[in-house]
Amino acid sequence: MGEADPISSFDRLAANVQATEDLNFQWCVARVPVGNVRSGDFEWTAHPIPEPREGEVLLKTLYLSLAPVMRAYMQGKPAAGETPLTPGDVIHGRGVAQVTKSRHPNWKEGEVVQGQIGWQTWKASAMTPAEKMFRMQPNGLSAALGLGILGMTGLSAYAGYFACGEPKRQDKMLLSGAAGGVGSIVAQLAAKIVESDVVGIAGGAEKCAFVRSLGCSGAIDYLAGDIAAAIAPARPDGIDLYFDNVGGETLAAALEHLRARARIVLCGSISEYARETPFALANYTRLRATDSSMRGFFVYNHLGLWDEAMEAMSGWIRDGRLVAHFDIIEGFENMPKALAALYSGGNIGKQICRVRGEPEGWQ
Ligand SMILES: NC(=O)c1ccc[n+]([C@@H]2O[C@H](COP(=O)([O-])OP(=O)(O)OC[C@H]3O[C@@H](n4cnc5c(N)ncnc54)[C@H](OP(=O)(O)O)[C@@H]3O)[C@@H](O)[C@H]2O)c1
Repeated sequence: MGEADPISSFDRLAANVQATEDLNFQWCVARVPVGNVRSGDFEWTAHPIPEPREGEVLLKTLYLSLAPVMRAYMQGKPAAGETPLTPGDVIHGRGVAQVTKSRHPNWKEGEVVQGQIGWQTWKASAMTPAEKMFRMQPNGLSAALGLGILGMTGLSAYAGYFACGEPKRQDKMLLSGAAGGVGSIVAQLAAKIVESDVVGIAGGAEKCAFVRSLGCSGAIDYLAGDIAAAIAPARPDGIDLYFDNVGGETLAAALEHLRARARIVLCGSISEYARETPFALANYTRLRATDSSMRGFFVYNHLGLWDEAMEAMSGWIRDGRLVAHFDIIEGFENMPKALAALYSGGNIGKQICRVRGEPEGWQ
C-alpha cells in the first residue's frame, strides 16, 4: 500500500494556490493514487469561467462533498456510471451550487441544486440525468444539508437502515463508522426515530463521546484494543441488526455475535478500500448457523425513495429529533487535505468543504 503523506504536505499544497472569483479553478487527477491519496496525486488548474450554451446553465459552486469513493474515482473506477477518470480530468464529486445564468428551459437564475458538480468553482451544465441533479427548495434550512441529511448521504442512511435493515424497536443493534457521515445519521434514526438500542463503533475517545451524544447506549473505541474482544461486553445479548460501514475485521467480528435471524446491512467497507489484496470473509457460515441474512445496497438504486426520505428527514430535523453533524473545511484550496484526512478518520460527521457558503437571495 502507498504510504500516506503527512497532512502538512497537503497544507503546503493549499498554500501554493488560491481560488478567486474571476476564473474557474479545478482540482484534477495528476496521477493515479496507489493506496492512500498523496499530495502529488492532485493538480490545480485555472480556466476562464465557462459561458453556458443553449440548453445549459452556469452553476456557481457553494459547497462540495468529500466521500471515501473519491479515491476510487481518481483510480479510474466509477461508482454510478460516471466517466472513468484519467490524469488531467476534473475529480468527480457532488456539490451544492446556485444557477447564476440560465439558457435551460427548466431552470431559473437563483435556483439551488445539488448534484454532480466536480471539484471546480464553476460549471456549465446541461443538467443531464447522468449528473443526478436535484432542485433544492428554500425551506429555511442551510443549503449545506444537501450534502448531508437532505442529500445522498441522508438517502444512504435512510434506504440502508429502513429499506434494507427492516428495523424493529426491540433490535439490539451494532453500527460501525458511527461517527461518520452515514453512520451519524443511522445512529440517530435508530436511537431517536425507531427508539431501538444501538451501540456505535468509532475511533478514539472523542468520537465515542460524540457517538453517545447521538443517542447510542454504548460506544466501542476500536482503536483502543481488539475489536473482536470488545463486542461481547458491549452487546452481551448479541446482535439483531448490524449496519456496516467499514467491512474487514470489524464485519468478521460482528458475525461472531449474531442472534437468531439477524440482519446485516452492507453499506461500506472503508477499512478495505486501500488494501491491495481484497479482504476474505472466512466466517460467512455464521449466517447459515444463525439463520441470518446479509444484504448490500447501492444508494443510486434507491432513488425511488428520494421524496419519502427527504420529506421524513426534513420533518425530523424541524422537530429536533435529527441533528445535522458536519465537519466543514474552509476553502476550495483545501479539498485534497480534506479527502486525505477522511481515510484516517479525521472527520466527525459528514465532511464537506465550504467553497462560497450559503446561496444569495434564495427564499
Ligand atoms: N452503499 C452505498 O450506496 C453507500 C453510500 C454512501 C457511502 N457508502 C460507504 O459507506 C461508508 C461510510 O460513508 P461516509 O460517507 O459516512 O464516510 P465517512 O464520513 O468518511 O465515515 C466513515 C468512517 O469510517 C471510519 N473509518 C475510516 N477508516 C477506517 C478504517 N480503516 N477502519 C475502520 N473505520 C474507519 C472513520 O471513522 P473512525 O475515525 O471512527 O474510524 C470515518 O468517520 C463508506 O465506506 C462509503 O464508501 C456507501
